[in-house]
Amino acid sequence: MFSTTGLRCALLVFICFQSRDALRLTPEQKDLNQNGVDIDLMTVSEYWNKFGKQNMLLSKVKTWDECLMNTPLVVVDGERSTMKQQNKFIEILKLARDTSEVHGDIAMAGIAGGGDAYGVIFYLACREKLGGRKVHLFDTWEGLPGAQGKEDDGFKQGAYHITYERFLNFGEAYGNKYDSYTGIKGSWIKAMAHAVTYKGLFADTMPDALSGSKLALLSCDGDMYGSTMDCLNGGASHLVPGAVVYQDDYYSFIGNYMAVQRYREEKNISDGISPIFVVPFTAEVEPIKEDRTMCVPPKTNEGGKQGNCQGIRYEAGYWFQRET
Ligand SMILES: C[S@@+](CC[C@H](N)C(=O)[O-])C[C@H]1O[C@@H](n2cnc3c(N)ncnc32)[C@H](O)[C@@H]1O
Repeated sequence: MFSTTGLRCALLVFICFQSRDALRLTPEQKDLNQNGVDIDLMTVSEYWNKFGKQNMLLSKVKTWDECLMNTPLVVVDGERSTMKQQNKFIEILKLARDTSEVHGDIAMAGIAGGGDAYGVIFYLACREKLGGRKVHLFDTWEGLPGAQGKEDDGFKQGAYHITYERFLNFGEAYGNKYDSYTGIKGSWIKAMAHAVTYKGLFADTMPDALSGSKLALLSCDGDMYGSTMDCLNGGASHLVPGAVVYQDDYYSFIGNYMAVQRYREEKNISDGISPIFVVPFTAEVEPIKEDRTMCVPPKTNEGGKQGNCQGIRYEAGYWFQRET
């Protein structure tokens, strides 16, 4: 049994030990010390007030899982910032994660409210994986263009129209979420400094904007045959090995499906070398390799007649760029 005096002594030794421990310097703090601050003469509370917050920020790079769970699908005034349902939203984030070590920019065509693009930026910024990369964002912000061919029968000009101003509103809401996420590094303004928007038709904007760049991720979400072809023609030649093409609505619209098939045929991209993975509507099942013996592609451009594999509804598709 300790006497009261013994207990007091033990407590004192404990506090001293804790204080000494807290004063042990990390390399970052040693740098700060070189800037003329005499850390050894500070009390623990002075030390904590001065360095505690910075120390927390320096030591807290969030894990992929933490960042994923905290990347919001923002809703403003009851309107979702992305037309993608949860599962596709999460899928594009995962593809951004899976290609985060591939050296190249990100190009996303078909932005509308931008929730998917903001989500990718949020997620990668949270993990500090935006360094040295641009995120190119393409849209007319006028909705679907008019159909140019029979493959696009059924699409309505102006559908999915979201204004550029609304896109900016959603960005502000993402910014508020990002900047209030405790312990995260950087700021939303810094994250968004990597983003560039290009207003106009994909066919007019993508070739110039991407000229000379390398891509790690290309997302095409222009629904139609013509827009999908324009996106693939404008972006896919810039993909580096290991990069990914995410094709929204590959299993939702026949025009979209045909564009992907034709593009891959023209470029000799075979299923053997670079299979297409189809993304389900819900998270109950994982993406699977598209297998023509058990998958039925979409039948129309009207929606509601999505493709399926063994009766399960699939919506999007993606494939990886192999060595050429
Ligand atoms: C379905 S919405 C995109 C949805 C968005 N990715 C999201 O997650 O909410 C399709 C967008 O593509 C744009 N778009 C379609 N075809 C286009 C083209 N050829 N050139 C430029 N923008 C196009 C439309 O203006 C529209 O905003």
